[in-house]
Amino acid sequence: MRPSGLWVLCGPPGSGRSTCLWTMAAAVRTARPHGPSAYLGVAHSLAATSMTWSMRAFGEEAVAQAAATVGTDIEQGRFTGGLVVVEALDELLGDDAEDELGRLFKMAREAGVCVLVDGAIDKFNYGVPRLALASRQAIVLQPDADELEQITGLAVGRIDRARFPPGRAFLWADAGVSLIQVATPTEIP
Ligand SMILES: Nc1ncnc2c1ncn2[C@@H]1O[C@H](COP(=O)(O)OP(=O)(O)OP(=O)(O)O)[C@@H](O)[C@H]1O
Ligand SMILES: [Mg+2]
Repeated sequence: MRPSGLWVLCGPPGSGRSTCLWTMAAAVRTARPHGPSAYLGVAHSLAATSMTWSMRAFGEEAVAQAAATVGTDIEQGRFTGGLVVVEALDELLGDDAEDELGRLFKMAREAGVCVLVDGAIDKFNYGVPRLALASRQAIVLQPDADELEQITGLAVGRIDRARFPPGRAFLWADAGVSLIQVATPTEIP
């Protein structure tokens, strides 16, 4: 994966989302070890607890504040080479957090800052979460064909979901999709 721009990570319960988010965050950290990093999400998180972060915020209120701070840092060039993770977006979408996250996504995309946005598939259909698809990059775990098309706009024909173990996903990048198996982190950066 290219360690810049907005990335969406979605999938049904038990599909391996928490692990995949950790894998992606660890990969970006490995590629860009010196950038600042912000985790915005929930306290019970593999990614939040398994890695070091320059800033962590848990829950809607704290996330709204942190998103505002990070958005401004990005705007003013203080977040170059940085990583932002937004986990469990569905749990963070009060009015305040939503506005600030929308601004953060826009700033990050313009500045090439990497933002990983995790949520349930149906959350990305409209509103602020849909903005996270603007870089046209995603990992869609265990999708059915309709869900994959909703996210990517691409039709892939029938998908036999029963043959998708946890971590099996479609990677959307460079205007196409490919079938992948997500790695699990072996080393904690
Ligand atoms: N990439 C992977 N490769 C192999 N097994 C995996 C992978 N990702 C997850 N698993 C297996 O699936 C289990 C569930 O993973 P994980 O907690 O990441 O899923 P989740 O989608 O976040 O689940 P939940 O909906 O309960 O939060 C893990 O304990 C692991 O055994
Ligand atoms: Mg999980």
